[in-house]
Amino acid sequence: MCGIVGYTGTRNVKDILVEGLQKLEYRGYDSAGLAVHNGYLEIVKSKGNIDELRKKVIDMHDGTIGIAHTRWATHGEPSERNSHPHVSFSGDLVMVHNGIIENTDELKSRIKIKGYKCVSDTDTEVLLNYIDYKYQNNGKRILEALQDSLADVVGSYAIVIIEKAHHNRLVICRQGSPLVIGYDETGTYVASDIYALADHTDRFVFPDDGDIVIAGNNGIGEAFTSTGEAKVFCEKRYVIEDRGAGKDGFDHYMLKEIFEQPKIVSELVSGGINFESNIYSAKEIDKILEKIERITILGCGTSWHSGLIGRYIIEKYARIPVNTEYASEYRYRDPVITPGELVISISQSGETADTLAANKLAREAGAVTMGILNVRNSTLERNTDFQLYLKAGAEIGVASTKAYTSQLVIISLLTAYLGRLRGNGDNVSELAFSLQFLSGFMTEALKLSGVIKSIAHKYSVSDNFLFLGRGFNYPSALEGALKLKEISYIHAEGYPGAEMKHGPIALIDYHFPTLAIVTDRENRSKMISNIQEIKARGGKVIAFLSSDDKKTTSLVDDSLVLPSVPDVLSPILTAVPLQLFAYYIAVERECNVDQPRNLAKSVTVE
Ligand code: F6R
Repeated sequence: MCGIVGYTGTRNVKDILVEGLQKLEYRGYDSAGLAVHNGYLEIVKSKGNIDELRKKVIDMHDGTIGIAHTRWATHGEPSERNSHPHVSFSGDLVMVHNGIIENTDELKSRIKIKGYKCVSDTDTEVLLNYIDYKYQNNGKRILEALQDSLADVVGSYAIVIIEKAHHNRLVICRQGSPLVIGYDETGTYVASDIYALADHTDRFVFPDDGDIVIAGNNGIGEAFTSTGEAKVFCEKRYVIEDRGAGKDGFDHYMLKEIFEQPKIVSELVSGGINFESNIYSAKEIDKILEKIERITILGCGTSWHSGLIGRYIIEKYARIPVNTEYASEYRYRDPVITPGELVISISQSGETADTLAANKLAREAGAVTMGILNVRNSTLERNTDFQLYLKAGAEIGVASTKAYTSQLVIISLLTAYLGRLRGNGDNVSELAFSLQFLSGFMTEALKLSGVIKSIAHKYSVSDNFLFLGRGFNYPSALEGALKLKEISYIHAEGYPGAEMKHGPIALIDYHFPTLAIVTDRENRSKMISNIQEIKARGGKVIAFLSSDDKKTTSLVDDSLVLPSVPDVLSPILTAVPLQLFAYYIAVERECNVDQPRNLAKSVTVE
């Protein structure tokens, strides 16, 4: 989603901004823009990718203060007119914004009667003009203007403002959307993502919700909390992990990340469970986990799918009741939260707006909160009691692959840990033992990429797909369908096998293929019945099978035979060919695999 970069100091700002935007590209965007204050405000914008913007920046004058933005459209189509930075009606302020303003209409009507006009369709420009109106009313004092205006704003925002009258300070505020401030001996940086600043500094501060910061060339000048009290930040030093910058000879990041999975899994399994926490010691965490009576798992998209599988695994092996929910639903449905229950938020980025809000709700209601995270130094890290890390390295492809399988491995390890801690050691020993062999089986599955590619070639003309699975592999069906639709734009639905008869079977005909996941033994006979029902109606079936299944190949049109693993691990193994299947279809259809249209890597608005 939208990315922000800003700098004030002694260096040439243009390079810092363009390089920063380039680092934020992976988040997903549709247009970009940049403002430099060289005594006067110079702004360039472009629809499409940053290379277009880069060409325009060459002709700009140099400067030492500026702000830049990649936009992922929420209000108004992707266009230069709607892209940021926006200039206020008076021309006194220029601003970039990440987030969504929910009471745009109300703010707009308040300033309209004061003669304000907007030139774009964005909520950002309305917010900026509202701030501008208060700025003019407060003798052009930005702090008072922000305190006065932001109190009336409903929604989420991370904003950075430059005032025309000041060419050495950035005004920074956030509410619900991430922002990090960094500094070195040359000046002060701000970005929506720590990676944008990784080449410049290892010294950071993280503003909290409601904070207003006025940053100068020597770092933070003034800072205030939402209630107007002066704030002193505690500096954090982070060396940023390797971003996995290159594709290592693969055609796409997604393919590289798919092939990285066996190594990541092997390291995760041998590393075991290592909780990280600023609040609790390892012993205290064990004490909490010994006592918990129920678990809620929260996540969005692929992370929700791994949470669904988590429910199956934890309940079956650790015998603790688990409820898995979309974070976006949980946060608004007034859930019953029992003080002391464990709420696990799963998020690759640690910045997904709905997951952050759902976690906050649970924490405020007295739940113990845990994050399963990949990116370090995230907002979710700071807002959970303890964390488990995927250690999957940077995931650049927008479609999640290695983070998903790592989440599943961490959940399996956690289940074994919980089982032992709570006296269910026998129950989890099979799980713990078989995890050791998983990485090798994933390597075997990757060797089937040629077969998968040829199946993908055959079916790449289909406009619809049904994915079926049962038990542990029902969420696999959801994930397979999600992967296919997000990168190849093919309509795909994931269903539990038994549910097919309750509706989706009406769709089945010769042109509507089904991918049946039959890699677990427990549900094999039932899945075979589902396959027969589809075949009886003229539907085409591709089946993902396990090597101990001698029957099903003859029933289906195409099949892929995977190594046989214990059922509990079959979703992790099956994820590999599902990812490759989606990948090869997307390549066949000449889609932008790493940056699919309309999608963002980090979904920072609800
Ligand atoms: C799908 C995908 C998304 C994310 C979702 C949650 O391939 O990547 O569905 O899983 O946006 O993101 P995180 O895990 O960062 O909270």
